[in-house]
Amino acid sequence: MEDNFAKRIAIYPGSFDPITNGHFDIIKRAMRIFDEIIILIAFNPNKSYFFTVEERMEMIREIFQDNKEIKVDCYSGLLVDYMKMTDANIIIRGMRALSDFEYEFQMALMNRRQSKNIETVFLMSGFKWFYTSSQLIKEVASLGGSVKGLVPDNVYQKLMEKYNTNNIRG
Ligand code: PNS
Repeated sequence: MEDNFAKRIAIYPGSFDPITNGHFDIIKRAMRIFDEIIILIAFNPNKSYFFTVEERMEMIREIFQDNKEIKVDCYSGLLVDYMKMTDANIIIRGMRALSDFEYEFQMALMNRRQSKNIETVFLMSGFKWFYTSSQLIKEVASLGGSVKGLVPDNVYQKLMEKYNTNNIRG
């Protein structure tokens, strides 16, 4: 049957260096609200990256290969410009502890200033993931600590390969 309603497309931008179970949880929640989600690996000039864009895209594609409503893309320019090209006007961001709030608020207001049509929707991450971050996960993995259960399995393998860690703590 022909659907008369426009598809609700949302962009989930981030560094995803690498994608964590916290991100995964946000995407699962967003899938209940939106028809299509574009996971966008965007460039954050304040970060230096451990995984290449290609590696990050590949890991995310593997995770969502059976989900037709999830697309994965990358862009090195302004997020609002990407959104204009794709006709999307909703940004999804996950909100963890209070520490995220100021940064997220600034970005949401700046994006809205660039383009009046854009709305940022914040989804609260599962309590389990409140204190996990890609940064902390890399730090622990690089020193041989256990990050199993904090990232999807393929990401875990990739972390172990990259750090060349024989993680005896599993
Ligand atoms: O996962 P991150 O690093 O917190 O994500 C931040 C990201 C990549 C979404 C942000 O830096 C971004 O939107 N970069 C694209 C460039 C841009 O539009 N910058 C202005 C943001 S208000």
